[in-house]
Amino acid sequence: MLQELTTSNRLGVRRLGFSSKIWKCLERSDRQKFNLYRPSSDELDQMLAVARNSMMLADSGIIRGIIAANPDSVRIASQPGTAQEDRGIVALLPLNAEGTDAIINGRFNSAAPDTTWISDPGEQPSAIYVWLIYMPGSFGRMLTAFADALEPFLQTPVPVFSKAVSAHSRRLQQTSGFIDAQSIYPSCSSDLLVVLPERLEPAPKAKCEVTVARSIEDVFQVFSVRSATYIAEQFCLYSEEFDGNDFCSTHWLGKVDGDAAGCIRARFFGEFAKIERLAVRAEYRNSRLAYQLVRAAVEHCRKKGYRTLYGHSRLDLQRFWQVFGFRPIEDRPPIAFANVKYVEMRLDLAPANDVISLASDPMHILRPEGAWDRPGPFEATPTADNSLRQQLLEQRTRTVKKTAILA
Ligand SMILES: CC(C)(COP(=O)(O)OP(=O)(O)OC[C@H]1O[C@@H](n2cnc3c(N)ncnc32)[C@H](O)[C@@H]1OP(=O)(O)O)[C@@H](O)C(=O)NCCC(=O)NCCS
Repeated sequence: MLQELTTSNRLGVRRLGFSSKIWKCLERSDRQKFNLYRPSSDELDQMLAVARNSMMLADSGIIRGIIAANPDSVRIASQPGTAQEDRGIVALLPLNAEGTDAIINGRFNSAAPDTTWISDPGEQPSAIYVWLIYMPGSFGRMLTAFADALEPFLQTPVPVFSKAVSAHSRRLQQTSGFIDAQSIYPSCSSDLLVVLPERLEPAPKAKCEVTVARSIEDVFQVFSVRSATYIAEQFCLYSEEFDGNDFCSTHWLGKVDGDAAGCIRARFFGEFAKIERLAVRAEYRNSRLAYQLVRAAVEHCRKKGYRTLYGHSRLDLQRFWQVFGFRPIEDRPPIAFANVKYVEMRLDLAPANDVISLASDPMHILRPEGAWDRPGPFEATPTADNSLRQQLLEQRTRTVKKTAILA
């Protein structure tokens, strides 16, 4: 029986190109393994009825046909010591060479898979299709059940296909390491994703960094990111995007593996700071850089003493801004500019005692913006103690003023 093959170290799963996020999640779940078993007919009916309340499933007759072809394709997952209603169902279709050919050539119908495409019990499949994962509770439980169910099919790692049923599901799977199947198999259906057997180590994590844009070169990079996002994707006019406020703002530049990937800017008013122009280039989305950019801007404004931050959230991005504590401003209807609707949001920050204030060390106030925690250019040698300059100043300063101005 397949369950007996389940190894405790998930060696097969580890040889697939899942992202480091998945690896971390699996490491956390190492002690919460699932029992996976073939359901009785009654148990299957009962579980399918529960799952049908929240998702579209193939007809029961089709599911039974697949089980007849390979009884290990549909299994119940339960954790020892947990309640009956916490059980889930994991259906993975082990595809033989013919089934794999069908999927990579756009002939695969997930609503009614052909049973001749299913590999025999115990036979090494050439590919796997994730047909159904229903698991109440957290993403972590779902992932663990999926990994445990997958492992026995991966004595030789093979491509694992799945379907993006919505934009959200596509994004979630992409952050897990799935890629558009068409990028590997051009004839594949466009809604399919695939994770490939490609490495023994976790995918190297892209290096994301965010810094205040300090040089003209940094600012050029910020402008190129904004051109590629707001102008190219949201069709902003040049005059709207580069609105005359750029040279009175602070900008942050986000890089992924050294390449200009994202940006954000802030403008400062008496009562509040306004955070705006958040952008991440399409090819670097899902890297979490957007989060780092917002955090850097918020932290910067907080350090400058701002207790109120203000911003315009695109209507569909309110949840994203809420992660940082931004809330829609009550009784203010959405506003629209450049044909896009926005909601006014504010973030109220708690008072803090590490803000830059008049009580701060004057040499700290002198430091570059946002780098208040490390010595600035005036504190470095030879700048701080430059004997040549001392000499020149002494020669050129009028005798009468020397004592007054020279350090
Ligand atoms: C907005 C933007 C910076 C987000 O960057 P990203 O790399 O896609 O962000 P992430 O993948 O880290 O996703 C951040 C969150 O925003 C949500 N999100 C991103 N784009 C979304 C969209 N179009 N619709 C709904 N939610 C979306 C995601 O669901 C995600 O939430 P999660 O962590 O709960 O999954 C990027 O899409 C962008 O540059 N867009 C064009 C410019 C723009 O509209 N800026 C925002 C102005 S308010």
